[in-house]
Amino acid sequence: MTDLRFVSTNPGKSREVAAVLRPFGVRVRWTRRELPEPQADTLEEVVASKLDAVRDLRGYVLVEDSGLFIPSLAGFPGVYSAHFLKVWGFGPIFELLRGRSRRAFFRTVAGLQRGRRRAIFVGEVKGSIARRAVGKNGFGYDPIFVPTGWKQTFAEVDAEAKNAISHRARAVRKVGNALSAGRAFGGSVGGPGRPRGPGR
Ligand code: IMP
Repeated sequence: MTDLRFVSTNPGKSREVAAVLRPFGVRVRWTRRELPEPQADTLEEVVASKLDAVRDLRGYVLVEDSGLFIPSLAGFPGVYSAHFLKVWGFGPIFELLRGRSRRAFFRTVAGLQRGRRRAIFVGEVKGSIARRAVGKNGFGYDPIFVPTGWKQTFAEVDAEAKNAISHRARAVRKVGNALSAGRAFGGSVGGPGRPRGPGR
């Protein structure tokens, strides 16, 4: 068993991360801590700040930052996803998307740290924005996101179905693979400043 600490304020994320890492023999402990989210252009920059803020923690420490990107809105809400949802809800997204492509994707950047070593893992899932919010499961934008090939939103399915394909699960499975292969900070998995491209 490998122990890993996942630092976040979001219990939904923590449950997803724990379920994805369990089959890799990784036991996840959730540390609830508010981490800095500086105004930044990329999720990678936000993750770097979060990793700086958890340097006091020993062992494997995992943080992540995610966003919903809508290409027809120039990538909005993207890195502003959390702030936008808190202040405005889904309404303005439905308004803005009238007559525009509803294509969207979720992206997660996960940052793993142990002592002075860091690695970044990326996951994405493509889909589209529903015409109205549907479903009670999950959190955040789940009620308005329909993955490609699905007829339901992430909020209409159970955690297992979301974890089969989600952006977060894809990024975190790479963490699990790297840890179980003993090459979390080296080999072919991206180290600091060498993020791998969008992952499937
Ligand atoms: P952050 O990574 O906590 O900054 O999340 C950014 C925003 O995207 C927040 O509003 C989250 O609720 C939302 N978000 C992150 N991951 C997901 C997800 O898996 N499903 C739906 N919304 C998400």
